[in-house]
Amino acid sequence: MLELRGVSKHYTAPDGDRVRAVDGVSLTLRDHELLALYGPSGSGKTTLLLLAAGLTRPDAGTVCFDGHDLARLSRRDAARHRLTTVGFVFQTLRLVPGLTAIDNAALKLMAAGATRREARREVAPLLERLGIGGRADQPAAELSVGERQRVAIARALSNGPRLVLADEPTGSLDSRRASEVLALLAAIAAERSIAIAIVTHDPAAAASATRALRLHDGHLEPLAAGAAAEAVEPPAVVPAPLGERG
Ligand SMILES: Nc1ncnc2c1ncn2[C@@H]1O[C@H](COP(=O)(O)OP(=O)(O)O)[C@@H](O)[C@H]1O
Ligand SMILES: [Mg+2]
Repeated sequence: MLELRGVSKHYTAPDGDRVRAVDGVSLTLRDHELLALYGPSGSGKTTLLLLAAGLTRPDAGTVCFDGHDLARLSRRDAARHRLTTVGFVFQTLRLVPGLTAIDNAALKLMAAGATRREARREVAPLLERLGIGGRADQPAAELSVGERQRVAIARALSNGPRLVLADEPTGSLDSRRASEVLALLAAIAAERSIAIAIVTHDPAAAASATRALRLHDGHLEPLAAGAAAEAVEPPAVVPAPLGERG
């Protein structure tokens, strides 16, 4: 579904130096897949996700979704693609502090034309599944960072996207909660037959991933052996959805 071919994005730093944020990356994401991307700060993870979403344009190479080059879509089609096909969890979350958790989660569906009531009905089960149903009516400003991350994930999933891109979505969760959220994402990728790529620092979290890659100075490499080596192999069983009651 998503294919990056020889994609590069270079920036000019304030001191005039050229920064090769992403440098010749080729990558194919398939349905059902939960891909974990590792890499130190500054290795290009955020830039790569923005390129994959069509939120920024490559200087070289192509990003194709279902065979369509995102750079060649009209403005209108590109906007529609981002609104209806992609779910993006920004590293900065982009929540409105004065709005409640559920209204923040509902924003994307409302932007796509749903009424507030419809949108809230749609996202309520997602908040439950993410373990924050009881916090739905709290203003975002009063939520913990981990709760905010889950609101942003609910919003990204709300429009039934075929591709979810999440930038460090579990960075502020404790390792048990992070593993639960990643297991949930893996289950959703399998259930809905969609592709999910996440940036994470947590090697244990990658146990839920079907594939793990490392980004280093804008280059992709297979994840080195070590704590997360098993992440390269698909998990033997699809984890049960988070919050599912037996
Ligand atoms: N808009 C920008 N302008 C200039 N440099 C940028 C910009 N965005 C990212 N960079 C630089 O590109 C490199 C990769 O950044 P980023 O993609 O944010 O990496 P990561 O998410 O892995 O920390 C860094 O050196 C960063 O400073
Ligand atoms: Mg980043």
